[in-house]
Amino acid sequence: KKVLHIVGARPNFMKVAPIHRAISERGVLAQKLVHTGQHYDVKMSDVFFTDLGMPAPDIHLGIGSGSHAEQTARLMIELEKVFASEKPELVSVVGDVNSTLAAALVAVKMGIPIGHVEAGLRSFDRAMPEEINRILTDSIADLLLTPSSDADANLIREGVEPQRIRLVGNVMIDSLLAAREKALKLSTLADMGLTARGYAVCTLHRASNVDDAKVLGGLLSALGHLSHRLPVVFPVHPRTRKRIAETGLEASLARTPGLRLVDPMGYLEFLALTSQARLVFTDSGGLQEETTVLGIPCLTVRENTERPITVDVGTNLVVGTEPARIQQVAERILDGQEKKGRVPDLWDGRSGERIAQVYEEFLGVGRTPR
Ligand code: UD1
Repeated sequence: KKVLHIVGARPNFMKVAPIHRAISERGVLAQKLVHTGQHYDVKMSDVFFTDLGMPAPDIHLGIGSGSHAEQTARLMIELEKVFASEKPELVSVVGDVNSTLAAALVAVKMGIPIGHVEAGLRSFDRAMPEEINRILTDSIADLLLTPSSDADANLIREGVEPQRIRLVGNVMIDSLLAAREKALKLSTLADMGLTARGYAVCTLHRASNVDDAKVLGGLLSALGHLSHRLPVVFPVHPRTRKRIAETGLEASLARTPGLRLVDPMGYLEFLALTSQARLVFTDSGGLQEETTVLGIPCLTVRENTERPITVDVGTNLVVGTEPARIQQVAERILDGQEKKGRVPDLWDGRSGERIAQVYEEFLGVGRTPR
């Protein structure tokens, strides 16, 4: 029986790598990796395959960027051809990007069962393209593999039959735990002239934060102010890089040399950076989870999160996008009042294994999962 994994954008790679590895080690199922090419820059894609020890994709579609409709439509047209020729018994999708939804939509119409990894997360903000992708993918997937029990509760509330839901834990944390030691051996900090706990890290790429010049300008000004207290390292997503150039914010950035804009980083280098930071500012979903496991204070610059467990038990604080508020919370942390957290249940590095077991059971091969 064959599983087809679909990856497309940066946050997908660290989720698929542990599932692919587990399936390959167990040797029960056949599998192929399809890269849609939603992300195509070397620094947004290729480097992750190397860093995560993942084999090169078996099939690469080279879809690239476009409006949501263009991108999703192109994805669907190409994926339909792949599914028709590969005839998989299961299509496995992860996360909430356009490639996830496109693959699920094509599979369900072709009668191919779907496993959705990272199911059940909800920000309850339908202005987010990712929220739409999550709701739609979950509604048509056969297996909903969830990272935490809040996700199960969301799905049950939406009327999903409990037998479709499997709590498997957070598979992205498998990648983090497997790579942590290696990352800490890198000379990333020394190369950048940083010392452990002596700097902050920032990432911003969400449309709601970077496409509006006023919001983006406010966020950069808050970070600029804080950079007088400690260096702030900001690996810039291509989308954000474009907006900064378009909106003429480069001039004001020149006045805050402590706010250091750098190119997107590889998985290991970035893990080296985040795991030794004093605090992290982000609008990413994955980074909220990673900082929770690493025990590093995280300020989520959004109005909501689809990952409330990182706030309930982890180090995450959802602080919104108002510059004064961000600065105030950050200052408080720098003054020593930081929130302590713990690692959520089943974020233990074994989720890939559990997912492989669920897939085997679903396809009627192998043993019953625990
Ligand atoms: C996508 C996901 C988002 C995820 C993010 C992680 C959707 C709807 N959004 O957002 O959920 O958090 O990936 O990075 O799927 N670009 C490049 N090089 C690349 C890829 C993109 O330059 O390799 C630029 C292009 O100008 C492109 C823009 O970034 O138009 C946006 O890319 P897109 O894939 O549409 O969405 P992301 O913002 O990356």
